Amino acid sequence: MEKKVLYSAVQPSGNLTIGNYTGAIRNWVKLQNEYECYYAIANMHAITVRQEPAELRRRTVELLALYIACGVDPAHCTLYVQSQVPQHAELTWVLNTMTYVGEMERMTQFKDKSAKHAENINMGLMDYPVLMAADILLYQTDIVPVGVDQRQHLEIARDIAVRFNNRYGETFRVPEAYTLKEGAKIASLQEPTKKMSKSDENPNASVYLSDDRDTILRKFRRAVTDSDNRIVAAEDKPGVTNLLNIYSAFSGCTVAEAEKQFEGKGYGDFKLAVGETVADVLAPVQAEQKRLLADKAYLNQVLREGAERAYKAARKMLSKVYRKIGFYQGE
Ligand code: TYM
Repeated sequence: MEKKVLYSAVQPSGNLTIGNYTGAIRNWVKLQNEYECYYAIANMHAITVRQEPAELRRRTVELLALYIACGVDPAHCTLYVQSQVPQHAELTWVLNTMTYVGEMERMTQFKDKSAKHAENINMGLMDYPVLMAADILLYQTDIVPVGVDQRQHLEIARDIAVRFNNRYGETFRVPEAYTLKEGAKIASLQEPTKKMSKSDENPNASVYLSDDRDTILRKFRRAVTDSDNRIVAAEDKPGVTNLLNIYSAFSGCTVAEAEKQFEGKGYGDFKLAVGETVADVLAPVQAEQKRLLADKAYLNQVLREGAERAYKAARKMLSKVYRKIGFYQGE
């Protein structure tokens, strides 16, 4: 039986956080044998906010090394850089003609980013979800593992697919989001009602995948909790709940098991245990990433082969779309 298709991507912008790991990359590894997987480095999405060219280039390769260091296997998955497969931009154009400005204006991330980058509300920022829809729909994707913050974009991708199919006949497979409960929504350590983000200005708010052990322990020590000293997940305890979620995602136990484990303990011990657990998981990933980055020839080969495979699939799909909409492709 043919395997179902899985698609996901991360932007090579800013330092990746533990949220990117638990919400996305970690789940990719779990699913890679069960599905035919495409994992992209979304550099076309990244330029919707200003990027320093040399840094963007460096982060692209670092992100590839990170995927592999986390356990994504290039022998079984297609790893590639989005801009190396031109069909992403081409399909975006077609899908743009069936997406409404009002829908894009209502996207939460567009509103947040417009407020944050008021001096640069460019067309790409607004069009970002359509490019993401093109990414997903080009490969006849069945599932898309993403964190909670990307679910709204996935809904739009589904709407666009259905709209296209209704107008031109069955063409695109309608993708499903795949979100694990633990780790799908990691919050800021300083403002636990906000998501942990690559671009937070407060360096204590986010734990980066590149942080060393001391930094990780320090950030968790400073994490905001509350004054009642009970280690339980509850709506009125967002800080403690977030730490429990992080612990659960990194240790593999459930939140209920974690609550039991820390019953009667103080916040100091709890935060130290969370920090140590995270640091223990990240240390081998960091070492492996470093080793891989010293082997650029290997990384370049992975990207070349990935781009070739992705290109083949994408070209076939785009040609089908062009046929459906009446673009002349020779007789
Ligand atoms: P990006 O680069 O912002 O984030 C990459 C992945 O990490 C997840 N994530 C989180 N999960 C849990 N807690 C958090 N605090 C947290 N922060 C981020 C995100 O949900 C995402 O899964 N537009 C996408 C990249 C993209 C894409 C795609 C994803 C481009 N094309 C096609 C899926 C399919 C983005 O900006 O993710």
